Amino acid sequence: MSEIRKIAAKTAVVTGAGSGVGRAVALALAGAGWSVALAGRRDEPLRETARLAGEAAPVLAVPTDVTDPGQVDALFATVEERFGPLGLLFNNAGTGAPPSLIDELSYERWRAVVDVNLHGAFLCARAAFRAMRAQDPMGGRIINNGSISAHVPRPKSVAYTTTKHAITGLTRSLSLDGRPYGIACGQIDIGNAATEMTRRMAEGIEQPDGRVVPEPVMDAADVAGTVLHMASLPLEANVQFVTVMATTMPYVGRG
Ligand SMILES: NC(=O)c1ccc[n+]([C@@H]2O[C@H](COP(=O)([O-])OP(=O)(O)OC[C@H]3O[C@@H](n4cnc5c(N)ncnc54)[C@H](OP(=O)(O)O)[C@@H]3O)[C@@H](O)[C@H]2O)c1
Repeated sequence: MSEIRKIAAKTAVVTGAGSGVGRAVALALAGAGWSVALAGRRDEPLRETARLAGEAAPVLAVPTDVTDPGQVDALFATVEERFGPLGLLFNNAGTGAPPSLIDELSYERWRAVVDVNLHGAFLCARAAFRAMRAQDPMGGRIINNGSISAHVPRPKSVAYTTTKHAITGLTRSLSLDGRPYGIACGQIDIGNAATEMTRRMAEGIEQPDGRVVPEPVMDAADVAGTVLHMASLPLEANVQFVTVMATTMPYVGRG
């Protein structure tokens, strides 16, 4: 067995890097000197993230659909070729379905959410794990983006909530299986960062009692600071799970 790394190489793949949390994390990493590969389906938002990163560090837009095994493998091959050993995957790309009860949710819509949130996360984690295990010295870090929905559901969110609970299983499995190879795996569970996905939180979102109520949101940059901290630890230390949420959002207690 080859030597195990103590500090992750400062090279990262961020999925969903063209918007929201992914963009904020990519900018924080680049600002801290990480080389960052930006993945997402749309090229233009990835280029905008690269432009915002400026000259701080090498940043590379690699348009990728995380549900496509061939595209995911090509992403990680490009990263190895351009940046060398892989230090970090921020497994962030995600999507939801319009609010619906399970009997109102089409199989196609369910499949679309599972494809991105679960199959995409699996494919990216698999490629990162493979690279981190094969490189010399071995090791690296995977940070999965879960959600408060990895703990409790919002009304009518069966597909999103199910996939985010599954992410916790992915995190725990990789955390265990990665030990012999110096691969650390942790999870960040976010509540109400202001992004495209949470636009309706500020406008008003259905509560368990049926009321539609605006909820507080926080800046995605405040999530990015936490991910940067997780990424910056030596590989012998790991933030296993962390929750970062808008302080006064309904979650803890009775709402
Ligand atoms: N904002 C919050 O409060 C919050 C709370 C809990 C969890 N999260 C999680 O945070 C992550 C990011 O969400 P966000 O709030 O930043 O929303 P967002 O701005 O909508 O970001 C989602 C990103 O995922 C990418 N994506 C979607 N499908 C993809 C695919 N098939 N292949 C590659 N990339 C894909 C999108 O880019 P393209 O469309 O260009 O592909 C987009 O950049 C998600 O996993 C979400 O569940 C967010």
